[in-house]
Amino acid sequence: MRFFKQLFRNEDKEAFDNIFWYEDIKNVVRRALDAKDNYNLLFIGAPASAKTLFLLSILELSKNSCYFDGSNTTSRILDVLEEKRPRIICLDELDKISRQFQNQLLNFLESGHIKVDQVKRRYDFEIKGAKVFAAANDIDRISKPLQSRFRKLFLAKYTEPQFLDISERMLPKLHGAFARYIGSRVLKNGGDIRDVQHIGKLVRKSEGPLEIVQIMNTMAKYGNMMMQDRLMGKEDR
Ligand SMILES: Nc1ncnc2c1ncn2[C@@H]1O[C@H](COP(=O)(O)OP(=O)(O)OP(=O)(O)O)[C@@H](O)[C@H]1O
Ligand SMILES: [Mg+2]
Repeated sequence: MRFFKQLFRNEDKEAFDNIFWYEDIKNVVRRALDAKDNYNLLFIGAPASAKTLFLLSILELSKNSCYFDGSNTTSRILDVLEEKRPRIICLDELDKISRQFQNQLLNFLESGHIKVDQVKRRYDFEIKGAKVFAAANDIDRISKPLQSRFRKLFLAKYTEPQFLDISERMLPKLHGAFARYIGSRVLKNGGDIRDVQHIGKLVRKSEGPLEIVQIMNTMAKYGNMMMQDRLMGKEDR
């Protein structure tokens, strides 16, 4: 028994290890996964706020699980659900799925029952006790009844200290001060944490502050919105 507990804890640790901060949310997600009854949880937040990271960790932790995103067609999602009958369903980019399919999910989220008429065929099946974990950028693009079937977790924009800390932990191969410098320049430039990751990839092992400053200056010069506006002729004259 102890062995199994230990095993679970290790898996659990690894599954969430790549997500920094949010210890409180990890705790809630573990509880939702452990809950006996069905439980639907929706992450809402700006781009690069770790929503997909959470869904992927949940997938790693769960045996009978499936992942879809908003670009999957209704038929594709229904085919997979019918065939695999997953107990854990991750629906990324929920705000990108059609209003029609949002409505068709309402019953499923409450009773596990799907009854949908598609052009080619009718789907009519049940997955008892399924849990749905979803993610979205824009809550306003999700119908009110669908919103109400989820407990919602709003991931706010990272504060400066969080942003710098995540930058440092995301770029372990760089000296901490360099990673934080990249983080602070990206933040000042209005970028998100993905930019930090991508700039980190450009820095070679042997390089130091000079090269990093050079890369950052280039990215600041060509990689921000003001430049885009200038190219599109939208700049205020
Ligand atoms: N808290 C965090 N801990 C570790 N890495 C993070 C964190 N937040 C963001 N990241 C980094 O940002 C990248 C994007 O994260 P993720 O794909 O989860 O964003 P998202 O919230 O799903 O964004 P989008 O709305 O654009 O889909 C990840 O690959 C990861 O490297
Ligand atoms: Mg995402």
